[in-house]
Amino acid sequence: AARVCHFKLVLLGDTAVGKSCLVVRFVRDEFFEFQEPTIGAAFLTQSVATGAATVKFEIWDTAGQERYRSLAPMYYRGAAAAIVVYDITNKDSFNGAKSWVKELQRRGDPNAVIALAGNKADLQSKRKIDYQEAQQYAEENGIMHIETSAKNDTNVKSLFHEIGTYGLSI
Ligand code: GTP
Ligand code: MG
Repeated sequence: AARVCHFKLVLLGDTAVGKSCLVVRFVRDEFFEFQEPTIGAAFLTQSVATGAATVKFEIWDTAGQERYRSLAPMYYRGAAAAIVVYDITNKDSFNGAKSWVKELQRRGDPNAVIALAGNKADLQSKRKIDYQEAQQYAEENGIMHIETSAKNDTNVKSLFHEIGTYGLSI
């Protein structure tokens, strides 16, 4: 029988960057133009088969609105992986993502896999953050980086698959 690894994963990032949409795309293969802002946090699970094992993600989709910020440590504590999401059309959200990366590197699990996800990659004409700029930041900080679109289903499965594969290898 195949090995099953349980992975606690947390999504962090400013409000409206598309954290819930990424999770809903990954878990249910759905997308909503009018996704409600998350209250507190939502818990979902989904499994992916990798070569070595099945990874069962236990996903905490946190709320990005400022009033929930103090709750975040409850969700990233003990997490094996974190996806820090920004919106490629929103500069503030990229700065927000950088501050989440900093906080995770200071206070999160030192072995946690961190992935920076530039979401809304379908909105090319409104882009404010160059791919190269985010890629360089990720390299300098030793984290993964990928651009995604929950709307068009671009790189969403790859994002989770790469985290699972990389997480199993360390
Ligand atoms: P909080 O729960 O408040 O932290 O927000 P969130 O990060 O979970 O954002 P959410 O998933 O609710 O998405 C916010 C809005 O962005 C929704 O209206 C979505 O339809 C839209 N959205 C999410 N992902 C994409 C995407 O890939 N492309 C486009 N064009 N819109 C997106
Ligand atoms: Mg949400």
